[in-house]
Amino acid sequence: MTQVADWETGNLDAEGTRDRILSTFLAAGEAFVSGGSLSEQLQISRTAVWKHIRSLEQMGFQFESVHGTGYRLQRIPDLVLEPLLGPHLRPTAKLGRRIHWFPSLDSTNAVAMKLALQEVAHGSLVTAAEQTGGRGRRGRTWFSPQGGLWLSIILQRPFPLRIAPELTLLASVAVKRALDLEVGVAAKIKWPNDLLLEGKKICGILAEIRADGEQVEHAVVGIGINTNIPAESFPHDIKERASSLQALTGRTVSHIALLSRLMTEFETLFDQLVLGHGFATISDEWRQASHTLGTKVQVQTPAGLVTGLAEQIDDHGALYVRRDNGEVTIIQSGEILF
Ligand code: BTN
Repeated sequence: MTQVADWETGNLDAEGTRDRILSTFLAAGEAFVSGGSLSEQLQISRTAVWKHIRSLEQMGFQFESVHGTGYRLQRIPDLVLEPLLGPHLRPTAKLGRRIHWFPSLDSTNAVAMKLALQEVAHGSLVTAAEQTGGRGRRGRTWFSPQGGLWLSIILQRPFPLRIAPELTLLASVAVKRALDLEVGVAAKIKWPNDLLLEGKKICGILAEIRADGEQVEHAVVGIGINTNIPAESFPHDIKERASSLQALTGRTVSHIALLSRLMTEFETLFDQLVLGHGFATISDEWRQASHTLGTKVQVQTPAGLVTGLAEQIDDHGALYVRRDNGEVTIIQSGEILF
């Protein structure tokens, strides 16, 4: 039973029925499936079956329909839906097992934070084909048109608040690994957790948490990857700094392949974090992929601007910057301006 019966942007019960219909078609392969058998199997009217098939068509699925026989699936779009991602996950995987997909949302993080309160399953995803008010860091909006991979992971495992900053660092390493393995590109990580390819931002990560005292009750890790966005779509003000994997490699990225890998990598790292083995265990990997260490930086910190040489990152992710006067400033959180 779903605890959010009628979401403002869609109905989660209907989503479940649609996914069960899709699973039936996927299992049938080349075979035809009749409307009558679906209606019987799912205990819904034939009209309801037809409406779900129409809605799948609107999402990009194509069916061949033969009067008196039924429907056969002909084209499967690369959408992040439970029946499409599930077969690519490890049998024991929790992350990505439940998915709430929307054609359009203001922000997957906003919806995920609300769903987290409804005690949805650990590892549930909220994902959207586009976001109209994608949230970026420091209150900025995140450009999220069709073609990108926009998702939020709901983490329902408590962990100490003091290690919360490590969450995004782990996510950036998980994205980096997934890009290596599935897209064949060596992205760099700009402290604390932007991913760059050829010097352009291709991924941003925004974690939001709800804590009770010293304990994080639940967290949402929002990940935006500029996968298949044409270069010319980027607005003028971000074109210089951001790009997409498709624009930079000339290849279309499979969302299902990339996301399943990302879920596997992130789940391993998150499970370790909860057991007390956090960023320290992968800090060398982060250093190897760093775009920041060894470069001159200007960092906007809560205490003001810090300019100097980014010398080191410690085992909790703090950045050590040597100023021109030789003093070292340790920065726990901030944003690199250059
Ligand atoms: C940044 O400013 O670099 C962080 C950007 C994070 C964007 C992602 S897209 C999916 C998720 N939903 C949001 O509203 N934001 C994050």
